[in-house]
Amino acid sequence: MNIRPVKRVISALETSDGAGVRLRRSLGQSQWARLDPFLLLDEFNSDDPDDYIGGFPSHPHRGFETVTYMLAGRMLHEDHMGNRGELEPGAVQWMTAAGGIIHSEMPQQQDGLLRGFQLWVNLPGSLKMAPASYRDIKPDDIPQVRLSGGGMAKIIAGHFEGQNKQTVGAVTGNATAVDFFDLKLVPGEVFICAVASDRNAFFYVYDGQANSGEPGQLTGVDRWQAALLGAGDHWRVEAGGQGAGILFLSAIPTGEPVAQQGPFVMNTREEVEQAMRDYRDGTLTAHAG
Ligand code: FE2
Repeated sequence: MNIRPVKRVISALETSDGAGVRLRRSLGQSQWARLDPFLLLDEFNSDDPDDYIGGFPSHPHRGFETVTYMLAGRMLHEDHMGNRGELEPGAVQWMTAAGGIIHSEMPQQQDGLLRGFQLWVNLPGSLKMAPASYRDIKPDDIPQVRLSGGGMAKIIAGHFEGQNKQTVGAVTGNATAVDFFDLKLVPGEVFICAVASDRNAFFYVYDGQANSGEPGQLTGVDRWQAALLGAGDHWRVEAGGQGAGILFLSAIPTGEPVAQQGPFVMNTREEVEQAMRDYRDGTLTAHAG
């Protein structure tokens, strides 16, 4: 067993996006804070509607996937194809923007807690101009696994290798074979899982605190920090004294250059400029296929 070390810790920055939604951005806070194919991870967490009620009015995406995972509160999404859905607490939307999508994402309550995440996953160049699609996953359709140390894991995407059996997540077969687990570890719990050595992997602590790595070579990771993992074939983490809520992500890197301007993520500057022209001309969603 070759435990992956933590090679970099990224503290989330408080920022705002959309129509003034306050959020914490770890991956994606700069072009140097990415881990191929993961472009961005935002956490939104507020009980003040002034922080989120403006939502994310109509905006475009091209060239990647957005994954929205709600912990609390509801989010209504509507897109240019007439798709409309409401994410409830615990639900996931996996949207493959690919060649182009224009949509809105709007919180549905005037009071109460809004809490969740949005992850951006890059697509390889061969799929950046494919037709857009999305999947809404209800909370009950996300498999849960009880861990031997007392915690729980939700297997949102990919494959989870448990002690005696494999659990298939709610989403499989995306371009970069993403594994996405939400772990709730009890105080002091040690968790180890296999992570194939051809994958890039990181985790994000959203509750509590954790320590990761070989015993004796642990790196502490606090709430609102992302930890990028180095080479190896397993991940090992210990929850702190208050337990830990952790998102774990791994995927096959694209190995391709990234040219990004806001919500357009392509391989070259020219392709990004084409996307900006297409959006301005009203043809962003007409080129896919
Ligand atoms: Fe969006």
